[in-house]
Amino acid sequence: MSQAFDVVVIGAGPGGYIAAIRAAQLGFKVACIDEWKNAAGGPAPGGTCTNVGCIPSKALLQSSEHFEHANKHFADHGISVKDVKMDVAKMVARKDEVVKQNNDGILYLFKKNKVTFFHGRGSFGKAVDGGYEIKVSGAKEETLTGKQVVVATGSSARQLPGVEFDEVNVLSNDGALRLGAVPKKMAMIGSGVIGLEMGSVWRRLGTEVTILEAMPAFLSAVDDQIAKEAKKAFDKQGLKVELGVKVGEVKSTKTKVNITYTDAKGAEQKLSVDKLIVSIGRVPNTTGLNAEAVGLQLDDRGAIVVDADCKTNLPGVWAVGDVVRGPMLAHKAEEEGVAVAERMAGQHGHVNFGTIPWVIYTSPEIAWVGRTEQQLKADGVKYKAGTFPFMANGRARALGDTTGMVKFLADAETDEILGVHIVGPMASELISEAVVAMEFRASSEDIARICHAHPSLSEATKEAALAVDKRTLNF
Ligand code: FAD
Ligand code: NAI
Repeated sequence: MSQAFDVVVIGAGPGGYIAAIRAAQLGFKVACIDEWKNAAGGPAPGGTCTNVGCIPSKALLQSSEHFEHANKHFADHGISVKDVKMDVAKMVARKDEVVKQNNDGILYLFKKNKVTFFHGRGSFGKAVDGGYEIKVSGAKEETLTGKQVVVATGSSARQLPGVEFDEVNVLSNDGALRLGAVPKKMAMIGSGVIGLEMGSVWRRLGTEVTILEAMPAFLSAVDDQIAKEAKKAFDKQGLKVELGVKVGEVKSTKTKVNITYTDAKGAEQKLSVDKLIVSIGRVPNTTGLNAEAVGLQLDDRGAIVVDADCKTNLPGVWAVGDVVRGPMLAHKAEEEGVAVAERMAGQHGHVNFGTIPWVIYTSPEIAWVGRTEQQLKADGVKYKAGTFPFMANGRARALGDTTGMVKFLADAETDEILGVHIVGPMASELISEAVVAMEFRASSEDIARICHAHPSLSEATKEAALAVDKRTLNF
């Protein structure tokens, strides 16, 4: 006997669990299926983000930053500490507790919103009259029917061809978040977001980190000026990034990983490390969904093909988050989840892809929204730029963290803000003002005329907006 629902959501990551909650708020009878297991084999909703992504990585970034502050920066404040030690097991246990709080929080939210949760793998059975049959295979086999289905199955780490993750020496983001001791030497392949964040964690704890990156430019999606400023800071910290490399053989022995690569000058190089993290992007999770049973269309990367509204080729089947096109970000997945639930209810859900912020949680943090200077040039857009360094910001001086700048890019004629790029302290929080401004299609003059609290890092945002019109007050 199958259980009938209005909406069945497959996947309880940020895309799926948020879609399920919003659909329930809108009056639908909702089921959400997720297969993630915690260490005890129980449910662990929250997806990559909660279990092996956003949340645990930020917990480790915080712990390692405290460690680095205690070791290197407390003395500047007159605080002397001796024998600062890192108990890695405790740091990891704290991270696991933070993850658990988030898993439990989602289970609570499901109860509160009357979403029925199923722990197991969801897959398409067949199209039935007025919907789809969805099978759940877990501790208990169940069959559900949903008038509408939302696929939010997320993504997994991409492997280097021929190099399997053993999660002991060759690590994906999963193993990288579970190391029990500080390795002496570590390599990362790929200096994207994970390479830089996880590289920072282990570098702060004392590991000698080398990041091997195929592209000749550092962080090519980031505004060039901001990327250069960030690279300077990482070089100073001793986070070694080699650009323009071609990785050759990767051989894992019991205790070492030996890597050969060709450097940017064409010379053959060898690197032997204790741990290797492969962070070269992610692939959509569609195997095991039995998409072929209902004719759900996938592209050649295995991602589900959707239109701008997250509609698939099948009536009543939607897909959101990492399993579809667009940036692989938790907040993008959430926005799509909300929009899809609202569209199912006949409302006008909306996601503005032009104002999705990006944040890299290194130190300094890097955050941006909108177009970069190089994109504006390529698009032939006439623009004005204004920058303001944190060096000239009183709060940054008081914090003892004056690296970086805020940069505004505005239309040369209308002054509408086209992009805001930040490298520096708390860039992750500062970027929200720019997102709001761009959503309201504000001009740089609008931000320049708003009263910002003193002393605050946000004054650097106001000053960068003033800089667009070449009238900074404090620089
Ligand atoms: P996921 O979070 O991947 O969730 C999909 C869920 O579906 C999983 O629980 C999976 O087990 C389940 N599932 C898959 N197939 C099935 C099936 N057939 N049946 C049942 N369940 C299934 N993004 C940010 O915005 N900020 C960050 O700081 C950030 N940090 C990150 C750090 C790391 C190390 C990584 C790897 C990623 C990070 N991301 C970050 C990206 C973010 O985690 C993803 O963009 C986000 O999790 C995507 O959400 P989703 O719901 O689409 O998929
Ligand atoms: P990424 O796409 O950010 O970076 C991958 C890097 O690997 C690129 O620079 C690419 O040029 C390089 N690369 C690819 N193949 C290579 C090869 N064979 N040899 C050497 N370099 C190679 O991917 P990453 O870091 O794996 O992260 C995946 C995604 O997860 C991110 O794109 C992002 O969407 C999300 N994420 C978001 C975070 C955040 O918002 N703070 C944090 C971590 C991940």
